[in-house]
Amino acid sequence: MRELGARLRAAGLTPKLLRAWAGTDRAASIHARYAGEPRAGYGARLERVAPAEAALALFVAGADLPGGAARALPIAALAAAGLVDVAGERVRATVALLPVGEALVACDRLDAPVARELACWPDDSSHHLASALPPGRRPRWLDLGCGSAFAPLARPEVAEDIVGLDANPRACERARLGAALSGRALTVLDGDLAAGVPDERYDLVTCNAPMPHPDATLWRSADAGFFPALFAAVPRLVAPGGLAVLHLARAALPDELPGEVVAVAYAGEPPGEQVPPGRAGGFAVVWWQPGAPARYVSARRDLTVERPHLQWRDREDALC
Ligand SMILES: C[S@@+](CC[C@H](N)C(=O)[O-])C[C@H]1O[C@@H](n2cnc3c(N)ncnc32)[C@H](O)[C@@H]1O
Repeated sequence: MRELGARLRAAGLTPKLLRAWAGTDRAASIHARYAGEPRAGYGARLERVAPAEAALALFVAGADLPGGAARALPIAALAAAGLVDVAGERVRATVALLPVGEALVACDRLDAPVARELACWPDDSSHHLASALPPGRRPRWLDLGCGSAFAPLARPEVAEDIVGLDANPRACERARLGAALSGRALTVLDGDLAAGVPDERYDLVTCNAPMPHPDATLWRSADAGFFPALFAAVPRLVAPGGLAVLHLARAALPDELPGEVVAVAYAGEPPGEQVPPGRAGGFAVVWWQPGAPARYVSARRDLTVERPHLQWRDREDALC
C-alpha cells in the first residue's frame, strides 16, 4: 500500500498540484465547492483529462474516467487494492483520497449515500484541530474520534507513537487505509468513547468532537453521553504534564474543568466560505492541561483570509 500511495503522489496526488488544479489545497474548500444538492460537478463523466490531473480528477473530484484518460495511473494495482472499480472502459474511485501534506487522507466519496457510518470529508474543524496542535515532539498522542485520521496524517511530527480511536468502523477503516497509503505507523482502535477508553496515559490527547445536535451521521452528531464521557476521560488519559486539545461547539464546554483551560472561540467558517444553515458560529479550540494549577481563560479570535484556522499561537495570545 505504501508503494501504491507513493505512485499516486508521483502521478499528481499532492497538495501542490491540487492547489494548481483547484485553486486551493484545503479539503474543506473543495468539499464546499461540491457540497449541496445535487452535488453539481462531483463524479462527472470526464472524457478528456490531462495525465497530470488524472489522479486528482479520479480521487478528489470523484470523476468517472475513460480508461485512456487514466493511463498515467497504476489502474491494475488500484483495482487489486479495491480503490477503483473498472467497468468496461470506465474507471471510478471507490473512495476519496485527499492529499494532505505528505500524506493521503482516505474518506468516503462525496456522493456516498448519507448513513450513520458515513466517513465524511475533512472540514474546517479538521483543519482547526490540526493547526492548533503544539509544536515539538512528544512520545504518545491519542486522537479521540479520529475519523479518517486527518490530524495524525497532517501532523505526524507531533508524536512518536500515534493512536486514533473512533466509534465508526468505516471511519476506522478509512484511517487505516490513509495511514497505509501514506506509509505511516498509526494504530486505529474501534471504540466508543462513552463505553471506555484505553487504560493508558498519553502526552497529548486530541478530539475534534461531533456536533452536540442530531445529524444522520455519527461524524456530525454526538449522542447524549459523548461530552460527559469526553470530559471525564481526558483527565484520566492525559499523562502528568500533558495536554489535551479539543475542537468543539463552545456551548458544549463546561464552565468548570480541573486544571488550566484556555478556550479560544471563533465564529462561523473562514472568510469566503458559505456557512450552511444551523452551523454558523460558536466553535472553539480548547487547550486543557488537567494537571496544571487551576486557571480558566476564555478569548475569541476572528478568522481572517491569512489565518483561516486557529493555531497554537492563539493559545499564547490568549494567555498574554
Ligand atoms: C467531527 S468528526 C472528526 C473527525 C476527524 N477527527 C477530523 O478532524 O476530521 C467526529 C468524529 O467523532 C466520532 N465519534 C462520534 N461519537 C463517538 C463516540 N461516542 N466515540 C468515539 N468516536 C465518536 C465520529 O465517528 C467522527 O469520526
